[in-house]
Amino acid sequence: MSADTPSYVKRPFRYADVEAKIHRRDFTGIFKEDLPTPCMLVDKAMMEHNLKHMSEHCKRTGINVRSHCKIHKSTDIARKQIALGALGICCATIAEAELMVSAGIKGVLYTRGPAGKNQIWRGIMLQASEPTFMMVADDPMTVDLLDEAAATARTKPTVLIDLYAGLTRAGHATGQPGVELAKRIESKKNLKLGGVMGYAGGASHTHGWENRRAKSHHDVEPVVETAMLCKRAGLDVPIITGGSTGTYNIDKEIGLTELQAGSYVFMDTLYMGIGGKDRPEKYTDWEPALTVLTTVTSQNHPNQVAIDCGNKAMLRPTDQVKGRPEIKAENQGAEYGILKWNDGDGLKLGQKVELYCSNLDMSTNCYDRYYVMEGDKLVDVYPIMGRSGAVQR
Ligand SMILES: Cc1ncc(COP(=O)(O)O)c(C=O)c1O
Repeated sequence: MSADTPSYVKRPFRYADVEAKIHRRDFTGIFKEDLPTPCMLVDKAMMEHNLKHMSEHCKRTGINVRSHCKIHKSTDIARKQIALGALGICCATIAEAELMVSAGIKGVLYTRGPAGKNQIWRGIMLQASEPTFMMVADDPMTVDLLDEAAATARTKPTVLIDLYAGLTRAGHATGQPGVELAKRIESKKNLKLGGVMGYAGGASHTHGWENRRAKSHHDVEPVVETAMLCKRAGLDVPIITGGSTGTYNIDKEIGLTELQAGSYVFMDTLYMGIGGKDRPEKYTDWEPALTVLTTVTSQNHPNQVAIDCGNKAMLRPTDQVKGRPEIKAENQGAEYGILKWNDGDGLKLGQKVELYCSNLDMSTNCYDRYYVMEGDKLVDVYPIMGRSGAVQR
């Protein structure tokens, strides 16, 4: 064997022992090199920095946060967010809401209006079991159905109106139509008006902070104005919610009372490029805490290698190699990706490479756990929950 043969071949390694230790929650002596790839790594210090930064921002500027769990699907992280002052957790699906409520999380807001028998009844039953759970509605029909189901179940859910904020996906018209929707909730014997939501998904990734600020004002002001019209009409509007990781330091000045930001916990490459208030070329308010660890599996072609992270692992050409901006990612197939470079030292067979993923929601959904790291050392494992099959529906 040559002098640069890695020492790991000189001692037997049984991967089953690593799994057994993880199951016992004994993380001692487990290192990056021992982990199966592709897998998700969380840099503990960076994640904690992000959680603290959001918490301090909210305390300093007087806005609340009810963080969106769609990006992490982790009850461990949700609990950390609550411990740092989050009012609760936002959920994109009824299954996520059930997951968070069953983990004992209070103040869960389901940010998509329930539609159809299955979602309406699961929402009602969830609220009957946990009174702090809240829903939204962007249609009078949803309001009527929730009221009737609530009467049948003898419960009284809190419902917010979901208003259009520039993202043509959901959201009732702002202005007087919005006031009418709020009045409809208020008029129902079995519903309580919780306030107003307006998710400005078009503003969140607008490049350049001043552009983003202008777009946010344009898209969110009508939502806040509708909330004011509701108040003038005598309605109680305790919550005005929306916002995102991209607009967290803009939303308060527009009049939101709480943020639904999610991606700030980990960051992804689509967010990294939007630019911050102080640094136009890069959004550095948040640390890139999440990477996909992959292994170079073949080096037979010039200026490129194959890695064991492909379409099944959600590899995208917009993913970036940590610490090696000159290397580009390309999709190759289900279990293979390609990393390419033009000049200089590339990557070698067996080498570990970390990738920043393009979109957190899609990527975290592929993996069953976060390996939480301090440098090369494994220090914790958080399950990523409700990702496939019945638990995701
Ligand atoms: C309804 C809703 N609220 C808030 C967010 C916040 O997202 P982020 O901070 O990850 O951009 C999202 C993201 O898709 C969303 O769909």
